[in-house]
Amino acid sequence: MEKKLILYYSYTNNTKKVAEQIQKATGSDICEIETVKPYTGDYNSVVDQGKQEVHRGYKPAIKPLSVDLENYNTIILGTPVWWYTYAPAVATFLSEYDLSGKTIIPFVTNGGWIGHTIKDIEKGCKNAIVTNAIDIKFDTDKMVMPESNLEKWIACL
Ligand SMILES: Cc1cc2nc3c(=O)[nH]c(=O)nc-3n(C[C@H](O)[C@H](O)[C@H](O)COP(=O)(O)O)c2cc1C
Repeated sequence: MEKKLILYYSYTNNTKKVAEQIQKATGSDICEIETVKPYTGDYNSVVDQGKQEVHRGYKPAIKPLSVDLENYNTIILGTPVWWYTYAPAVATFLSEYDLSGKTIIPFVTNGGWIGHTIKDIEKGCKNAIVTNAIDIKFDTDKMVMPESNLEKWIACL
């Protein structure tokens, strides 16, 4: 069977935890998108910095991925919501990598204000099929969405 790739960015580890749960359940390969320069400072200053970056369309440098995307037809793509859209590191990824012909299944962690994140992912994944997106709400580091909803979604991957 074709191996899928779980590819995610995470700043406070919510998206990372979900990514690892999907990996355990499906046996898919997993890869993290990491910025070259880590975000530093307290949470609120990163929230402010994130606002500036999203509004300017800033794309922080990211480290080269540890996998070759050519080996995967399906990518399960995880991002936190930053200011109603995907995180800047994911913007960098989408601008640097070609997803043509692939199927992209997004999972989007957030605090309850997802905004236009999924529409933006659909637009950003050029020439790819974006399907079966899930929006996973957290209260700080605690998942609010019932665990059974996430399990059902994972079972369909
Ligand atoms: C810079 C920044 C901006 C955020 N903007 C939003 C937002 O617009 N809507 C929302 O629901 N949550 C927002 N959040 C909360 C995160 O989306 C949420 O905590 C997410 O689960 C964090 O994922 P992570 O732990 O993988 O980084 C924001 C968090 C940060 C750091």
